[in-house]
Amino acid sequence: MTEQAVRASDVYTDEFAADPYPTFARLRAETPVCPVSSPRFDSYLITRFDDAREALTDSRLSKDLYGPGQHYLRIFGPNSEGLNRNMLNSDPPEHTRLRRIVSQAFAPRRVEALRPRIAEVVDALLDRVVPRGRCDLMEDFAIPLPMTVISELLGIPEEDHARVLDWTQVIRTSGSSGRPPEEDRAAVQEAQAWLHHYLADLVEAKRARPADDMVSSLVQACDRDGELAEAELVTTTFLLLFAGHQTTADFIGNATAALLTHPDQLDLLRARPELLPSAVEELLRFDGPLPVASPRIATEDVEYGGVCIPSGSIVGVAINAANHDPAHFADPDRLDLSRERGPHIGFGYGVHYCLGVSLARMEARIGLGALLRRLPGLRLGVPAAELRRLPAASPFRGLLELPVRFDVTPG
Ligand code: HEM
Repeated sequence: MTEQAVRASDVYTDEFAADPYPTFARLRAETPVCPVSSPRFDSYLITRFDDAREALTDSRLSKDLYGPGQHYLRIFGPNSEGLNRNMLNSDPPEHTRLRRIVSQAFAPRRVEALRPRIAEVVDALLDRVVPRGRCDLMEDFAIPLPMTVISELLGIPEEDHARVLDWTQVIRTSGSSGRPPEEDRAAVQEAQAWLHHYLADLVEAKRARPADDMVSSLVQACDRDGELAEAELVTTTFLLLFAGHQTTADFIGNATAALLTHPDQLDLLRARPELLPSAVEELLRFDGPLPVASPRIATEDVEYGGVCIPSGSIVGVAINAANHDPAHFADPDRLDLSRERGPHIGFGYGVHYCLGVSLARMEARIGLGALLRRLPGLRLGVPAAELRRLPAASPFRGLLELPVRFDVTPG
């Protein structure tokens, strides 16, 4: 790492947690390929749109965190391998094999068939809060919606949803508990161990009693077709469970907060609900839930923006910085729901492009549409500056709570 490396603690400040976009703008302008050092690992952060898109398709930037260098240990801790050695952390041909096994289930036509059930889940969640006139939109809506949908798809029994959610939340909210970092890391390790055991038991239960769900199909791909190794049953299920709810939950929270703090755009969407599909894309560009793509490793010296990234370095592609690059988006810090649909990279780019994109879009469109329809007078329950967020250094951008109020309508 060079002497010009910035310390992670100088980038990931409280101001950054509240609003990362001024920092991203500075980095993009001054050090678009920025070496960042942190006590746990050093990395290079790429912030310009063109560099970001190129890096996401650059085969010299490997996703195989389990190859030489044991990067996963430094980044995710020792218990992570049993969960994280999955398609997201692998390169072709393993990646191609692992993705092919589940890709059919997330194809647009299959996802379309889920529409009625998603609408039902949305309505049931809103039925509970409508009479109250207030709620925590994260706990009462944004988190349980995608969690219920992906759990049902996978075949996680309903009585286990709450426990599974609690443990995944330990991972999502890591760093926000106020505990010392070692305790926090220990809590994540414990959560990973619990989830590993739980999912391994689930696989066994589906092997004994197959049902019409995705884990049963994965068991079949393993036992009958030999397409999947035993350990990959658990890692694939974990990826679908975690990626399948956490990003969507944070996105629905961020999107709702963005609308409530931009009343002109909220009014526009209420007046023209047909804008919802493009609004979802603009909201994702404006404040996405995955600020930096999952880590890549340079397998040789590579050059980006005139900076040499030495072989073996960890590379972070700052999706949210790229999505605010003025070279690609006019007036990028303005939320403009009628913006011409641009090529944002909120769902990634290249071979790891989000597998669940159709499902995520459908959940967000149905969910946000129903919020606007069923919660009249929807407004923040606290000043925007008091919203509690995930910590600045979290890999995720999201809210810990989103207190809102709305009018209670008779009947
Ligand atoms: C708004 C919600 C979502 C956003 C913003 C999002 C974003 C992303 C991004 C940026 C990536 C690429 C990461 C990288 O290259 O490092 C990704 C990958 C992935 N996403 Fe999503 N995602 C969302 C919802 C979902 C849902 C609902 C699922 C359902 C299972 C899902 C499953 C996956 C999987 C399996 C991958 C790994 C794909 C691969 O490695 O080939 N995501 N997502």
